[in-house]
Amino acid sequence: MIAFFRKLWPFVHPYRARLLIGLVCGALFGVTNGMLIGAVRAVFELVFNHKLTLHAKLENAPAWAHPLSHRLAAVVPDITAPADNDVLGWVLIVSIIPGIMIFRNTMSYCSAYLTNWAAMHAVTDIRIKLFGHLQNLSLGFFNKTTTGDMIGRITSDTQVLYMIVGSSLAAMVTAPLTILAIVGYQFAVQPTLTLVSIIVFPVCVVPIIIYGRKVRKSARAVQGHNAELTNLMQESFTGTRVIKAYNLEATVTEQFRITTKKTVGQMMRVIRANEIPSQFTEFFAALGIALVFLYILHLPPDHRPGTDDCMAFILGIVIIYPAVKQITRLHNQILQARAASERVFELLAMKNSVPEPVEPKMLHADKADIVIEKLDFDYGDKPVLQNINLTIKAGQLVALVGSTGSGKTTLANLLLRFYDPTRGSIKIGGVDLREVSSRDLRNQIAVVAQENILFNDTIRRNIELGRLGATDAEIEAAAKHAHATEFIARKPGGFDCVIGEKGVTLSGGQRQRLAIARAVLRNAPILVLDEATSALDTESERAVQTALDELMKDRTTICIAHRLSTILHADVIVVLKEGRIVEQGTHAELSTRGGVYQKLYDLQFHSKS
Ligand SMILES: Nc1ncnc2c1ncn2[C@@H]1O[C@H](COP(=O)(O)OP(=O)(O)OP(=O)(O)O)[C@@H](O)[C@H]1O
Ligand SMILES: [Mg+2]
Repeated sequence: MIAFFRKLWPFVHPYRARLLIGLVCGALFGVTNGMLIGAVRAVFELVFNHKLTLHAKLENAPAWAHPLSHRLAAVVPDITAPADNDVLGWVLIVSIIPGIMIFRNTMSYCSAYLTNWAAMHAVTDIRIKLFGHLQNLSLGFFNKTTTGDMIGRITSDTQVLYMIVGSSLAAMVTAPLTILAIVGYQFAVQPTLTLVSIIVFPVCVVPIIIYGRKVRKSARAVQGHNAELTNLMQESFTGTRVIKAYNLEATVTEQFRITTKKTVGQMMRVIRANEIPSQFTEFFAALGIALVFLYILHLPPDHRPGTDDCMAFILGIVIIYPAVKQITRLHNQILQARAASERVFELLAMKNSVPEPVEPKMLHADKADIVIEKLDFDYGDKPVLQNINLTIKAGQLVALVGSTGSGKTTLANLLLRFYDPTRGSIKIGGVDLREVSSRDLRNQIAVVAQENILFNDTIRRNIELGRLGATDAEIEAAAKHAHATEFIARKPGGFDCVIGEKGVTLSGGQRQRLAIARAVLRNAPILVLDEATSALDTESERAVQTALDELMKDRTTICIAHRLSTILHADVIVVLKEGRIVEQGTHAELSTRGGVYQKLYDLQFHSKS
């Protein structure tokens, strides 16, 4: 519990002043509840008995309280009611109750507003931190986590935290103080009756404990199922085309039905744990009132308390028990918040498997050789790359070829330091990639990836992501370079056309050309082209290839291609097979060697002719 608040505290700390004022207002609200009972009782007595016999009450206090009651009697006046014709006097007396009510409710509002304000800001900070943290985690983490789980942690889990800081924290102050103020007041006036009425209090704890036990586990399960649901929705909404093409609508709906139903049991358990104890509490409140009546009946008539006492008593119980109910809920809310916070802080504590160096070295990729030495890599199970030794001279065009799954994209990923090699190293200009900041490294590499990700924004913005802050003229020049201007001009709004989620309104080739334009704009010394022209028709490919050839000048380029026609002129062709380099050389050397490359080449060129 303390650990939970300790983790939360750094986020609440900047807003502590308002939170504190909110809690003080909540405390005043609690105390005012006691004053309200006192006021009702006093007005009742003045109206019916025409005299507030405060001193008599104090005289009657139990012997142990005499030092206090006598001192109070010395300072508090024994109030007498005004004369019957003194309208103003009566109005003033009767307006005590609405007056206290205004103060009480102003305090209640301030408390709710300020604590929620602090909670909202603290939780927003947690969300921002969580999102930023996720952005900085390595690709390895994203391979293992689902989108739904991450969205769930950022949205619904933090929402539960908001609930605890916003309302539960305030209730933690107001509810006990309300109880204390009222019980304290009643106790001062009628100690025995008070004891009788609260004798059932401790029993309220039993259902809280019984039902609270499972809440944390269920709350965690509910959050987990919600993540599963988000995931399912995310996948089905983004995969609509496949779902429709393969008539999977019913299957997906059924899957959704099963996942949704799974949460019902757990959710009902949380609801039961919230509701049953509070219903019991109300029953115990009624039992308390019944006990008071029984006790009064048992007293001799001349010792029975007056109606004013009884009324104040019942009013007190009516106000106390919602506060008790709030405390019973509080227990469950804290358990739920703990479950949510575990998920949030678990993610925040997740370490980046590609750690940033403490003192990063400067990287100068321009005119620098790339040296890969004795490199091994796996994604966690079987080896994907083994004993890779490769030197790429500055300005060279190196082509990576090999059958699908041979590890070409993986090698490019390692160059971008999406992962670290399990053994061996990659050095650029003699500096190990692990010694430079990944920001510095990636700033010096332009990538056209195998799967081009575009965002639901304008064409202009999508290209601009290559180099933020580029001018319109630069963006347009990059688009021209990538042979994209023609199709952009045909789009409504041209460069300002919004291209839909993942660029859904564009053709595969158009998407690829935007990705190339993005890489052109980046103007980095190292260029990685992973099947950059695979989606283009032969004519466009030739045109884009010419543009790319121009772009490759004076840059170190790593080009991955299945279509060998695009890499015939490469300085070095590296052939990968099952994660190993099996051949290396120029096209002229390899095409007559009788190895893997020649086989690939013959297959492609002879089947064409
Ligand atoms: N994120 C990942 N987690 C686990 N294994 C992966 C991951 N990405 C790729 N692999 C595996 O690593 C191997 C190499 O994959 P890689 O993407 O590098 O192949 P490739 O040579 O680029 O193939 P292609 O020509 O089809 O693009 C494959 O066997 C693949 O299943
Ligand atoms: Mg690949």
